[in-house]
Amino acid sequence: SETEKGTYDHYMLKEINDQPAAMRKIIQEYQDEAGNLKIDSSIIEQLNNSDRIYIIAAGTSYHAGLIGKEFFEKWAGVPTEVHVASEFVYNTPLLSEKPLFIFISQSGETADSRAVLVDIKKRGHKSLTVTNVPGSTLSREADETLILHAGPEIAVASTKAYTAQIAVLSILAQVAARELGRDTGIELMKELAKVTTAITAIIEDAPKIEAIVKDYLETSRNAFFIGRTLDYYVGLEGALKLKEISYIQAEGFAGGELKHGTIALIEEGTPVFALTTQEKVNLNIRGNAQEVAARGANVCTVSMEGLDQEGDAYVIPRVHSSLTALVSVVVYQFVSYYAALHRGNDVDKPRNLAKSVTVE
Ligand code: G6P
Repeated sequence: SETEKGTYDHYMLKEINDQPAAMRKIIQEYQDEAGNLKIDSSIIEQLNNSDRIYIIAAGTSYHAGLIGKEFFEKWAGVPTEVHVASEFVYNTPLLSEKPLFIFISQSGETADSRAVLVDIKKRGHKSLTVTNVPGSTLSREADETLILHAGPEIAVASTKAYTAQIAVLSILAQVAARELGRDTGIELMKELAKVTTAITAIIEDAPKIEAIVKDYLETSRNAFFIGRTLDYYVGLEGALKLKEISYIQAEGFAGGELKHGTIALIEEGTPVFALTTQEKVNLNIRGNAQEVAARGANVCTVSMEGLDQEGDAYVIPRVHSSLTALVSVVVYQFVSYYAALHRGNDVDKPRNLAKSVTVE
């Protein structure tokens, strides 16, 4: 059944491997009979009647929201803010006239997010929940719901829900843009199919990523993830994943911020993962990689086909520049999985963590 791990050693490994099927399922679920991407018109109206989107989430779902901002702003043309739920509720910013609140939550049960939903409903604002669990609290209590269709996620460390969240947000933004007559310049369905193929290729490459873990993380106590723009956000997720299950102290940060503090932590052998999938910042991030390498860092560069250079540790297949997170994150999911496995940790049930946190 969907909730068994079958031949896989761990749920997390199964769920990483589920991602191509989840992508295909999402494309299928959000399609009309004519084969066009489709979302309920009430949701599109809600979005296109708003003057600003406030994305509210926690943990990995927050990181998916950071990528979602790209789609809403670039394609649908709606200014978008992304907030950590537990901060927003006690530190609410000045809201726009017609805000739309989008709650991103795998479980639909996160208490911090619910606290925001209760508060904004009292103020009369509109809400949409993007969740993997139909009938969950956040789904029942919001005006509208979009389902992730990723299938049950059992491992505490979220993997397929993150990629499903990004895919669903991209579809939402694309359909909203289409209804507004905006040309996004992307054939999303085709590009998501390419993403699916690329994820499959990385899954087949898992042994190569296991070797990277041996080279870079076998004895380290800490690790850094650098990137710029979308790759920065994926670095935040890569660092979170590594912390959660390997217990290696990890930090993700923007490449340009290195020199403003974090570079002081670089020592001989410090592992630094540098991600580069965005052409406009490829040379900048490679410069940042050199800066840390010159101070002794053990730099593991993950690049995208077309932007790759000799010496890169891993090259992901080329996909649309707005969608690279869906593919690059899979490399980091495997990095975390093998790092935890080699340390003998309980991959699916890391210490101190719960799958869904129902207290504020
Ligand atoms: C917990 C989980 C995280 C998850 C976060 C948000 O802390 O351990 O993996 O990202 O909650 O969960 P949600 O269900 O709202 O996406």
